[in-house]
Amino acid sequence: MSIVDEIKARLDIVDVIGSYIPLKRSGKNYKALCPFHEEKTPSFVVFPETQTWHCFGACGTGGDVFSFVMKKEGVDFLGALRLLAERAGIPWTEEKEGDAQSQLRERLREIHAAATAHFQELLHHHPEGEVARAYLQQRGLSQETVTAFQLGYARDAWDDLLQYLRSLGYQEEELEKAGLIIVRDEGRMYDRFRHRLMIPIHDAQGRVIAFAGRVLGEGHPKYLNSPQTPIFDKGRTLYGYAQAVRAIREKGEAIIVEGYMDVLSAHQAGFRNVVASMGTALTPTQLRLLSRHTRRIILALDADVAGQQAALRGIEVARENLERDVQPMITPTGALRFEATLNVDLRILRLPEGMDPDDLIRQDPSQWEKLVREALPVVEFYLQYIQETLDLSTAEGKAEAIRIMKPLLREVASAVMRDHYIQQLARLLRVDERVLAADILDEPRPRRRRARPKESPPSPAPQPTPPLNTVQEMERHFILLLLRAPDTIRTLDEELELLGLEEFRWEELEDTRHRIIIQVLLTSLIGGNLTSAEDILSQIPDEMLEYARSLVEEAKSLPDTPEHLMPHKILTALIWLRLLRHKEAARQIRFLIEEAQEADEHTLITYSIRLGNHLRAIRELERLLPALTLTR
Ligand code: UTP
Ligand code: MN
Repeated sequence: MSIVDEIKARLDIVDVIGSYIPLKRSGKNYKALCPFHEEKTPSFVVFPETQTWHCFGACGTGGDVFSFVMKKEGVDFLGALRLLAERAGIPWTEEKEGDAQSQLRERLREIHAAATAHFQELLHHHPEGEVARAYLQQRGLSQETVTAFQLGYARDAWDDLLQYLRSLGYQEEELEKAGLIIVRDEGRMYDRFRHRLMIPIHDAQGRVIAFAGRVLGEGHPKYLNSPQTPIFDKGRTLYGYAQAVRAIREKGEAIIVEGYMDVLSAHQAGFRNVVASMGTALTPTQLRLLSRHTRRIILALDADVAGQQAALRGIEVARENLERDVQPMITPTGALRFEATLNVDLRILRLPEGMDPDDLIRQDPSQWEKLVREALPVVEFYLQYIQETLDLSTAEGKAEAIRIMKPLLREVASAVMRDHYIQQLARLLRVDERVLAADILDEPRPRRRRARPKESPPSPAPQPTPPLNTVQEMERHFILLLLRAPDTIRTLDEELELLGLEEFRWEELEDTRHRIIIQVLLTSLIGGNLTSAEDILSQIPDEMLEYARSLVEEAKSLPDTPEHLMPHKILTALIWLRLLRHKEAARQIRFLIEEAQEADEHTLITYSIRLGNHLRAIRELERLLPALTLTR
């Protein structure tokens, strides 16, 4: 049994939530004042039968035991898992997993720890380390920084590290897997990193999982990086993350720069909320990592605007000498979609011409602080960009400006903000605002706007019975279908929009594991690379991998459906799920109203409005369903 199942089996949600807030029995269920918003009459309900909770008051949130603990403690999924495992008395460390793959990974981490210590020893105590010590001094890196980031030195020899690690009993084969040793066809072996300043790259827990080696002075390549290994995936790692995470939480802000030296300098100057994307284009996974700790994420970009364009557009800017790994990348529109789905505030900091953060901070730290303060939201950044680079008085300039801004504006989640930006653009271009708005919004937008279907569906047929009875079964079915055809999530919102329904949000699902699967799907979607069920599995946290795997297997064994019918099936499943949920909610609220007779009027009004909304939604969905099931 996986850790997640074990927790679910051992802990009762009533006990867990009851330990945070006083619960009062109410029929089969339990009630409380919602811990997530102010209220005078309890509308927070815990359901022992389904092991879920829901607030029927103002905040309208809900989920399972994991999402409750995540929300209440402000931790991520793994954090909640840790707390709950402890509570259930299940011995668990993230390392526990016994299979061969995780043993290998553990072994590779040990090798990296040993190599780090060796490189540090050489840097600090070996005569040959002098050249690296001199280099560090020349770059102005303090002893404190060197220690905090565990910098080291790789000797100018063919097999220094190889011999050292061999002497500790490691096998050549695993050293090669660690990416530290290169094996030639003839079987000849040598160290990957020779005569370089060694910069260890840490994972989120602060364990070394890879290295970058900087040439001491001039030379090619300037940085040599570890290859992709079972413990190192560049696109999922941020340099300096482990060292920065506390400051990121404290400041409520994370800054992403490009290079190792930028991070080292920033931290040394006391700007500890800085991490680096290590020279490649930023991936959604990297952003997601940060979004767990802060809402505000600032991207520091080169002054050269072409560079900015490239970096943001996600054009493959294969830098010379960088190992090519094809990663999903953040495009400007992707960034906006990301903001909306993960609820973050992304800003762009433009560096002065020809300077990187390292140069800048060294020259004048206050200048860096100023630029950070002045970082602009993505759309505003582009509004500024078109003003600086285009001649907006000419027809060509205006057309180009609209070409750049259109996809961005269409992606802005809030209608109010979108209108605001359109107004601003209209003023810049000196064109009529309504004409501009029509131009920008003409084609059906992929999300947000609600449109009624033109013709009303055929007259109500007899109500079909739901294919599955409970909300839980339906939710699981929906996920299974999505795993069967992950790509479908791409068009789901459009299909919903065509029916005049709200877009899909992951909060609609109650099981945290399902939410995580959806988040993985959505981030891959933003990155533009979708994605087989297997790809999804590779991004699922180990602790729920077993469950996710069983879902993927089950998805494979679903009855065959022609591919082109999958979107329809998935849409229908979602509509059923919503219908069942609304019915359940309506039932609960009626119950709450009955019980709350003596409650204040305000609460009763809130309940009736909510009930009205649910009933309306039920009518609307029931009206749609027969048409859906009949048409195809
Ligand atoms: P830069 O060339 O801007 O290097 O590359 P830098 O960080 O300013 O380093 P210094 O100050 O010259 O020492 C930015 C980042 O791109 C990646 C590294 O992550 C680097 O920090 N890069 C660059 C490589 O991986 N390999 C290279 O050969 C060059
Ligand atoms: Mn530099």
